[in-house]
Amino acid sequence: MSDDQLESGKDVIAGLSAEQKSLPPKYFYDQRGSELFEQICELPEYYPTRTETAILKEYSGAIAQKTGPCEIVELGSGSSTKSRILLNAYQDAGYPLRYLPVDVSDTMLTESAEKLLQEYPAMSIWAIASTYEPALNALPPKQLPARMIAFIGSTIGNLQPAECEAFLENISETLEVGDYFLLGLDLQKETSILESAYNDAQGVTAAFNLNMLRHLNRQFEGNFDLANFAHVASYNSQKKQIEMYLESLTAQTVRLEVLDLTVEFEMGDRILSEISRKFSLEEIANSLSSHRLKVVEIFTDTEQRFGLMLCQKAS
Ligand SMILES: C[S@@+](CC[C@H](N)C(=O)[O-])C[C@H]1O[C@@H](n2cnc3c(N)ncnc32)[C@H](O)[C@@H]1O
Repeated sequence: MSDDQLESGKDVIAGLSAEQKSLPPKYFYDQRGSELFEQICELPEYYPTRTETAILKEYSGAIAQKTGPCEIVELGSGSSTKSRILLNAYQDAGYPLRYLPVDVSDTMLTESAEKLLQEYPAMSIWAIASTYEPALNALPPKQLPARMIAFIGSTIGNLQPAECEAFLENISETLEVGDYFLLGLDLQKETSILESAYNDAQGVTAAFNLNMLRHLNRQFEGNFDLANFAHVASYNSQKKQIEMYLESLTAQTVRLEVLDLTVEFEMGDRILSEISRKFSLEEIANSLSSHRLKVVEIFTDTEQRFGLMLCQKAS
């Protein structure tokens, strides 16, 4: 076992040893997980991607006008599909293009950076294969008059409230006064719409959830039997979050050799694999301003399903 492997699995040991077992959502994203996420984005039930894409199509030009020439750091960039809408707006405005995608999935990051270089030959790219925090600490000096950190796709909803506050503070400390933060957020809405988005008829979300166990098996020499777990997703209306679990269908013992970890499951025990918090624009605006991130403009769809907030770092 290398120190690196053990270091990278400490969160797995902590999560699976806790009374409420949990795993960090970053373990969804091996190559297959990234591909399954792309399929989720196309599902009829999964309104967030469609809705945020439509908002970006309508307002990216306005965002570019507000920020002026600006380099874009994107956290959790994935396939950079939505980012292209923003990049096109900056290109159409005649601004130089500089894009700094950050993603924990290095295969997805490399593939999309290579495609982007072909599509935008004049663009400079600085890709960082990392989790968010180390990447924010490792950003190169700014080369354009402003910088915008984009965190779209409502990925912020995967952070627990305390993690979210620490994350916003980190963003604020990384930005210089006058720089921008673009935040995409899934908004509170009817439970039936939310629950069907995470329980699609084709079972793609279930496959995505279960794939996390396959990823752990490969990374840490585990023996999770995927047939012994089921995907469960429901809305917790008190906490205003979708909770996604892997439920044990039987009493079983799982071993992760690399981590020297043995985990016992009773039938019905659940691993919390993801929360997806649903926000109110007012609450998040208050939270942003407490981190010196002033809301410049809010863009939404007509049904107020999704919000895109452009913020500026205040002194
Ligand atoms: C929900 S997807 C969103 C992708 C894209 N931004 C979008 O809006 O469609 C989350 C992305 O963040 C990446 N990711 C998840 N946790 C991460 C972490 N802790 N650090 C860096 N990237 C992470 C995943 O690999 C994935 O590409």
